Amino acid sequence: MKYRRILLKISGEAMMGDMAYGIDPATVDFIAKEIKQAVSMGIEVAVVIGGGNIFRGVEASVKGIGRASADYMGMLATVINALALQNYLEKYDLPTRVQSAIEMKEIAEPYIRRKAMRHLEKGRTVIFAAGTGNPYFTTDTAASLRAMEIGADVILKATKVDGVYSSDPMIDPSARKYDTVTYIDVLKKGLSIMDSTAISLCMDNDMPIVVFNLRGKGNIKKILEGKKIGTLVRGNDGTRVKKKDR
Ligand code: GTP
Repeated sequence: MKYRRILLKISGEAMMGDMAYGIDPATVDFIAKEIKQAVSMGIEVAVVIGGGNIFRGVEASVKGIGRASADYMGMLATVINALALQNYLEKYDLPTRVQSAIEMKEIAEPYIRRKAMRHLEKGRTVIFAAGTGNPYFTTDTAASLRAMEIGADVILKATKVDGVYSSDPMIDPSARKYDTVTYIDVLKKGLSIMDSTAISLCMDNDMPIVVFNLRGKGNIKKILEGKKIGTLVRGNDGTRVKKKDR
C-alpha cells in the first residue's frame, strides 16, 4: 500500500449530498462504505470533518454574528457530523472513536493525541471533531494539524471535483487539471484547495495532500493502491523529509 495511516478530510458540504442543507443519509452511508473499504485493506484511518452543511461560521460572521462566536457554532456543527458518521461506520461494524477538540465528555472523548494514536494502532477509525478548538482556524487547518500530530502519511482532501484545476472548470472550458502541484504554486496562484494556513502547515512539514473526488466509488481505495487519482500537492522535488519527531 502506498500509505499506511491516512487523514481523510471531509467537508460538511460533502455530508449533504445534493441537498441544500443537513445530512443526507445515503451520502453518509456511501462515505462510511468508502472508509470501511480502506480499513479492510489494513489502513489506519483518521477523519477530520467540517460543519458547513449545518452552520457556516464565516458567512454568519459577515451577517453580523461575531467571528469568534460564529466559529464556535461551526465547531459544534462538526460534532453533529462526527456523531452521524460514527453511527454509519458502526453500522458497518467499524470500531470508531470520536474525539472532540472542545471537551464535551458526555458525547465524545476529549482530544488526546496519544490516545488517538493508540486507537488507530488498534484499527479503530478516529473522527476528530470541533476543528482545532479555536476560532479563526478552519477545519482544513485542523486536518493539517491533526495529520502532523498523528504522523499521518498523507491528507486525503475530499472534494466534489476530481482534482486541482488551473481555473474553475465550471466557468472556464480551458481549465487544466494538474496531476501534481507544489504547495508554493497553490499559495501563489491562489488555487482554492485549502486555506493558506492549512497549506503552509503542510508545506513546512512535508505533508502531502491528495485532492480527489469523494463521489467517485472506490477512489480512496485506488489512491491507497497508488493509482493516479486526483491531484497530489507536494514540495518542489517531490521528496518527503521524514521529520524525526513525527
Ligand atoms: P482502550 O483503552 O484501548 O481499551 O480503548 P477504549 O476506547 O475501548 O477504552 P475506553 O475504556 O477508554 O473507552 C470505552 C468507550 O468509552 C469507548 O467507546 C470510548 O469512545 C468511550 N469513552 C472513553 N472516554 C470517553 C469520554 O471521555 N467521553 C465519552 N463520551 N466517551 C468516552
